Amino acid sequence: MPIRVLMVCLGNICRSPLAEGILQNKIDPKICRVDSAGTANYHVGEAPDKRSIVTAKKHGIDISSQRCRQIQTSDFETFDFIYVMDKNNYKNVLAIAPNERAKSKVQLILNESNPGQNLEVPDPYYGELNGFEEVFKMLDDACNHIVQKINS
Ligand code: 4NP
Repeated sequence: MPIRVLMVCLGNICRSPLAEGILQNKIDPKICRVDSAGTANYHVGEAPDKRSIVTAKKHGIDISSQRCRQIQTSDFETFDFIYVMDKNNYKNVLAIAPNERAKSKVQLILNESNPGQNLEVPDPYYGELNGFEEVFKMLDDACNHIVQKINS
């Protein structure tokens, strides 16, 4: 059974679609399956933000067929690791976790690349395109660490 990883942000149109595409691109699907979701339902059914699509494409990753969905309680059963982008996501995801085991699956993604620092992936939604490139770099670094962990 492959390891299952869920990437979570607020809208599921900017940061977590990038995280999904980046990790998927680095790892054999026989080893690890990746999905993403948002804590909010504002954009359910939509494709990722154009700026995320363009940024991923610049790095050879196609995320255009992803569709936004909201996190649901059953995700705590389905997934082994649930990575959140910021402390608000962390709070909102823990609030719907059914039990302690579910809570223990949730981590800030940048703690993989910067252990114990509780750093956040900034929300690029209201900013410029270069904010998406910054987010890509942070997530790429974190995903390299996740791949190392999974493959070790
Ligand atoms: P994301 O960014 O959480 O990285 O997908 C956002 C996308 C949309 C909104 C907020 C953040 N919004 O308020 O619609």
